[in-house]
Amino acid sequence: MSLFITFEGIEGCGKTTQLGMLDDYLQQKGRRVMITREPGGTKLGERVRDILLNTDGMNISSWAELFLYATCRAQLVKEVIKPALEGDNIVICDRFYDSSVAYQGYGRGLDLEPLIAINRCVTGGIIPDITFILDCPPEAGLKRAWGRINAGGEVREDRFERETIEFHRAVREGYLEIARREPERVKVIDGNREIGEVHKEISDIVEKIVGSL
Ligand SMILES: Nc1ncnc2c1ncn2[C@@H]1O[C@H](COP(=O)(O)OP(=O)(O)O)[C@@H](O)[C@H]1O
Ligand SMILES: [Mg+2]
Repeated sequence: MSLFITFEGIEGCGKTTQLGMLDDYLQQKGRRVMITREPGGTKLGERVRDILLNTDGMNISSWAELFLYATCRAQLVKEVIKPALEGDNIVICDRFYDSSVAYQGYGRGLDLEPLIAINRCVTGGIIPDITFILDCPPEAGLKRAWGRINAGGEVREDRFERETIEFHRAVREGYLEIARREPERVKVIDGNREIGEVHKEISDIVEKIVGSL
C-alpha cells in the first residue's frame, strides 16, 4: 500500500528537519520511502526553481509566480509522485499544493477559486493522505530560517524569507484556514517546541496510519 505525506508551513517552521526525521524513522521500520520537494525534484522543476531563485531584478507578478510553481508541481506529479505511489512507496513531499493556497492565495491575495482549480489540474487529482502543518509564529520561523541561511553553504530560495512579517502572518493564517476546512487530512502540529517532541507527535500519527494499511 502506498501513502502520500506532505509537510507544510512558513519558512523555518521545521519542515525539512521533520521530513528527514520521519524518513529515518520509517526506513528503520523497513518501509520503502521516497522523499521529494517542491519546487524542484525534476529537471524542469530545478530550472524553474532557478528562475524563482535568481529573479535578476524581475518583478514576477503573483499569477506568473503561481504558474511557475504550478509548472514544477505538474512535472513532479507526473515524473516522481505518481510513479512512486503506484510502486507502493511512502512518498513524503516537502511542500505541495497547499503552499500555493497559503502563499499565492492568502499571502498574495490571488482569487482562491481559479487557484484551487489550477492546483487540481496540475496534480491530476492526487491528494495527500496526510498533511502536517508545522505551525509557529513568523518571528520564530524567520529567525530560524535566517540562522540557517547565514550558516552558509548551499544556495537557498530565500525570496519569501525577505517578505514582510505581515505577509508571513497572512500565510500562516491561510494554512490554519486550510486545516479548518480539511481537518481529516490536515493536521496542525505546534512546531514551536523542541525538535524531538515535534517528531514524536508526527511519528505517532504516521505509525497509526501505517499500522492500519
Ligand atoms: N523545533 C525546532 N526548534 C529549534 N530549531 C529548529 C526546530 N526545527 C528546526 N529547527 C532549525 O531551524 C532551522 C530551519 O529548519 P528547517 O527544517 O530548515 O525549516 P523549513 O524547512 O521549514 O524552512 C534549521 O536550522 C533547523 O535546524
Ligand atoms: Mg526546508
